[in-house]
Amino acid sequence: MIRVLFVCLGNICRSPMAEAVFRHQVKEAGLEDVISIDSAGTGDWHIGHPPHQGTRDILDRYQIGYDGLKARQVRPDDFYHFTYIIAMDDSNVVNLDAFAPEFVENEQHASIHKLLDFSSNQAITEVPDPYYTGKFQEVYEMVEESCSRLLAYIVDQHELTK
Ligand code: 4NP
Repeated sequence: MIRVLFVCLGNICRSPMAEAVFRHQVKEAGLEDVISIDSAGTGDWHIGHPPHQGTRDILDRYQIGYDGLKARQVRPDDFYHFTYIIAMDDSNVVNLDAFAPEFVENEQHASIHKLLDFSSNQAITEVPDPYYTGKFQEVYEMVEESCSRLLAYIVDQHELTK
């Protein structure tokens, strides 16, 4: 099983959007038995909360399900459990460090990337936070494009076929 964890600050706007979009794409590719998906926040303010209304509205517009999504905080064991941890911005990568266990040499652990590392648009490297900007549509377009390229990357890396 390949396990992907999307991480943002609050786990109510960007990372649950990425989780829902990526799950939808993985299902469409028939790879839901091979790739598992989750999301978490580095902050603890919204633990147990559903996605932000702005994220729900966008997912509704594109008919992408988000039933049962509830915010949780990153845990040290996520670094062992997940194959990939995909952060939304530079501060998420810095904040993740506080949760990372001390790795024993040669131990398997997640490789950490930023979502926009997979974007075809190299001009922008961080997913802006719609909690502050309100620009959920802009974020959706970035998330959708980068998630589909992330999926292509994983399929290629792990030589996956349906
Ligand atoms: P997210 O956005 O990291 O994309 O979920 C935020 C949500 C909540 C807060 C900050 C960012 N907050 O400060 O409560």
